[in-house]
Amino acid sequence: MCGIVGYIGKREAAPLLLAGLHRLEYRGYDSAGIALQNGGMPYLKQKGSVGDLQKTYEASPAKMLGATIGIGHTRWATHGDPSDRNSHPHLNADGDIAIIHNGIIENYSLVKQELQAEGYVFQSDTDSEVLVQLIDRIWKSDASLSLEAVVRAALRHVEGAYGLCAISLRDPGKIVVARKGSPLVIGIGEGEYFIASDAAPIVEHTNRVVYLSDGEMAVITRSGYQVRTIENVAMEKDVVELDFSLEKIEKGGYEHFMLKEIFEQPAVMHDVMRGRVRSDEGRVVLGGIEDYLDRLKQAKRIVICACGTSWHAGLIGEYLIEDFARIPVEVDYASEFRYRNPIIGPDDVVIVISQSGETADTLAALRAAKEKGAMVMGICNVVGSTIARETMCGIYTHAGPEVGVASTKAFTAQVIVLYMLALALSKGRTISHDEMRLSLRELSRVPEHASRILELDRQIQEIAASYKDARNFLYLGRGYNFPVALEGALKLKEISYIHAEGYPAAEMKHGPIALIDEDMPVVVIATRDSSYNKILSNIEEVRSRKGRVIAIASEGDAEVARLADHVIYIPQASAQIMPLLTVIPLQLLSYHIATLRGCNVDRPRNLAKSVTVE
Ligand code: G6P
Repeated sequence: MCGIVGYIGKREAAPLLLAGLHRLEYRGYDSAGIALQNGGMPYLKQKGSVGDLQKTYEASPAKMLGATIGIGHTRWATHGDPSDRNSHPHLNADGDIAIIHNGIIENYSLVKQELQAEGYVFQSDTDSEVLVQLIDRIWKSDASLSLEAVVRAALRHVEGAYGLCAISLRDPGKIVVARKGSPLVIGIGEGEYFIASDAAPIVEHTNRVVYLSDGEMAVITRSGYQVRTIENVAMEKDVVELDFSLEKIEKGGYEHFMLKEIFEQPAVMHDVMRGRVRSDEGRVVLGGIEDYLDRLKQAKRIVICACGTSWHAGLIGEYLIEDFARIPVEVDYASEFRYRNPIIGPDDVVIVISQSGETADTLAALRAAKEKGAMVMGICNVVGSTIARETMCGIYTHAGPEVGVASTKAFTAQVIVLYMLALALSKGRTISHDEMRLSLRELSRVPEHASRILELDRQIQEIAASYKDARNFLYLGRGYNFPVALEGALKLKEISYIHAEGYPAAEMKHGPIALIDEDMPVVVIATRDSSYNKILSNIEEVRSRKGRVIAIASEGDAEVARLADHVIYIPQASAQIMPLLTVIPLQLLSYHIATLRGCNVDRPRNLAKSVTVE
């Protein structure tokens, strides 16, 4: 896995494919490659960045000239280390079939042994290579078959997930693509077509796209495309208009996408609430779940499933829904939920949260919950993503494309959605009209508070400079700020590679306190809420063991200033609103520590933006 691009039309394919791969860099990857079709099948693939690949191409572009068909890939190693030979595309021994593949072929080892027994020699350690060798074998047994027929036959032999593109000199002038578990989009231009694993490489060329669903294949030529199921049944697909612009996925003057996305948060917060939060009327309008609201309110239990940062948003959702709507909530890692035979039935509601809408574990949890008869609702950012399409109802976060691998604006948007959902579930049941209006008014003020917090960027950068060489960090919070402590620690480890742990502050004495000394910076979220006094005691405990304390506190709090080495003051708000504010300084802190350490914050090592494999 990671990113796929393809082109068929009248223009030179190589520069278009390279530009497309650049657009996919945000997903995280370790190697890249392209294969084209002109009189022959030239290809380039290597470990390293798309920029490196581009240089190799520019050093000798001649062999790629005249190719107006091609496929390209950025790889994120799963089977086989990052290396030139494990990079995609993979070609057969005759060099006349090329494939790129996202996903994992689970029975590859068996298929590989069969092929090796027949004399096939493998060039890589990847699972993906079995696909091209299988296609080759099938074609050798019947040379009259079309490319789509051999791809289809090969896919019948394999188990697992794929987003696959294939080209061949034996049946030239077409790209065959297939999808199961790994997204593929076809962009429709004028006499040209684009293929990609998400819309980012397509949007500068056309905003008309077709999303393939699982179990579908397409044959794309210069004159059109045809979609069929893997079982070869013809089908009609809707053409969808993309609603995001190129400008939205460019850096807009910021040094990194992550910083741009942190600073976009006040605007994003407005977008999430637009038309939905009606403070004066004391109601929330959530079109995507309107028809299901009664059933949601009657849920015996809500189970939230997600991964990574979205899972942290889910934890805050648990507090919010239980607090406001008094419905019991459980939060599960999607990867655990799917395999632990959960007790779920028609009285339960399962909410899956996913920025990308493509995370393999979250998607599998959704499907498992559906199978058990639960009502399944989604909270997604990417419109038209697989999770968004497979849930019965849902709420889009409207955060716009998030490019930085470390999630920031998508997280705050998810928390706002969960806040709105909790209030929608409370209406007429657990809170009065006045409480509803007050809670909505508080929410409406969040973008303004967020803007004020962003003004602290310089101060946070200075604090970051004092701690950039730390080897460990501890993050503490209580109540609503406990999941924020987890998120703060995750942000730091993701992009700066400093070991960081988040803990509920009171749990510190059951373990982490043993680690505290002058080399252990401790970030404590100590805003004024019901556990404020207790968290002050926790700070004292850290101080008395010489730990250095960076506190996030409510404006005007002199007491915290007395105890902590550094204080970042944020506007005071109710406990339910706090995570939306306390997380912002933590995002900035990790961003600055990582950049001061010279890390590539937008593309941290070993991480992917969208994890479409298990
Ligand atoms: C990856 C990303 C994280 C993200 C997680 C879940 O690990 O690097 O930033 O939180 O996947 O992704 P999702 O798209 O489902 O929210």
